[in-house]
Amino acid sequence: MTDHVSTHQAEEDARNEDILIYVNGRIVPKAQAVVSVYDSGFMLGDGVWEGIRLYNGRWTFLDEHIGRLFEAAKAIDLDIGLTPEQVISAVLETQKANGMVTDAHARLMLTRGVKTRPFQHPKLSQRGPTMVIIMEHSRQKLPRPIRLATVPHLRGLPMTQDPKLNSHSKLNCILACIAAEKAGADEALMLDVHGFVNTTNACNFFIVRKGAVWTSTGDYCMNGITRQKVIDLCHANDIPVFERNFSLVETYSADEAFLTGTFGAQTPVGSIDGRVIGSGQMGPMTERLRGLYKAMVGA
Ligand SMILES: Cc1ncc(COP(=O)(O)O)c(C=O)c1O
Repeated sequence: MTDHVSTHQAEEDARNEDILIYVNGRIVPKAQAVVSVYDSGFMLGDGVWEGIRLYNGRWTFLDEHIGRLFEAAKAIDLDIGLTPEQVISAVLETQKANGMVTDAHARLMLTRGVKTRPFQHPKLSQRGPTMVIIMEHSRQKLPRPIRLATVPHLRGLPMTQDPKLNSHSKLNCILACIAAEKAGADEALMLDVHGFVNTTNACNFFIVRKGAVWTSTGDYCMNGITRQKVIDLCHANDIPVFERNFSLVETYSADEAFLTGTFGAQTPVGSIDGRVIGSGQMGPMTERLRGLYKAMVGA
């Protein structure tokens, strides 16, 4: 589709051609920032990651992101080999090397590292983890609200690949996104195993009905940091907010819908499965929450 839009769409910024990237303790030009073809992340998607954002000199909710990264690493039995403070230092060093002060986004990636042979067993990664930080100049640029389509790909049960893990392997979400694009939408709205509306392939999902804000129970989706901040902001500002099960029937007839994630904060949704949501433009509650969030993060 020619007018395809993504929640992770940013303004073109020529400076991103000359960024410096952190690779295992070295900060090198983009062209030299490479990992081995034997890396478990490349070979198997065996790793975890975080996306973080810089607004006016401050990495937003950095301790929470680093905490989630360490929890995910522990869950997949990956010893980072660094303390949280050392990981934060690596972020700050990369920021300094790039001279970035605001409107930057970083993808902090951690894999089980280089394998001795090209097979799955985790014991074949014997040289320690690989850590990479890609930091780009980044301001979200959305020409219009996002169009979603529901897809057959589900948010699964925790005993398969727990959807709470920010794993490198995102194939389920990628297949969902491809299916949504084939259906003429921008991104996928995914249901849980019971058929309730859960989340999108890359963000958390909210609706607004009669002045109240609804999101899924939190089962089967990423425990998004932005999601929690929106819930906290609702509580702090006397906006009724519910973490509950709801279906597509309630979703299509919502007054507003929006997505949350570190990259785009709160992103309006214009339509779902060809049904226009509200006016099809950003609604007043989404706008209000965006304002409150902006003030919270000092953007
Ligand atoms: C599948 C998915 N949902 C939601 C989010 C948003 O999480 P956060 O608000 O912590 O950026 C992410 C971001 O990593 C994600 O990958």
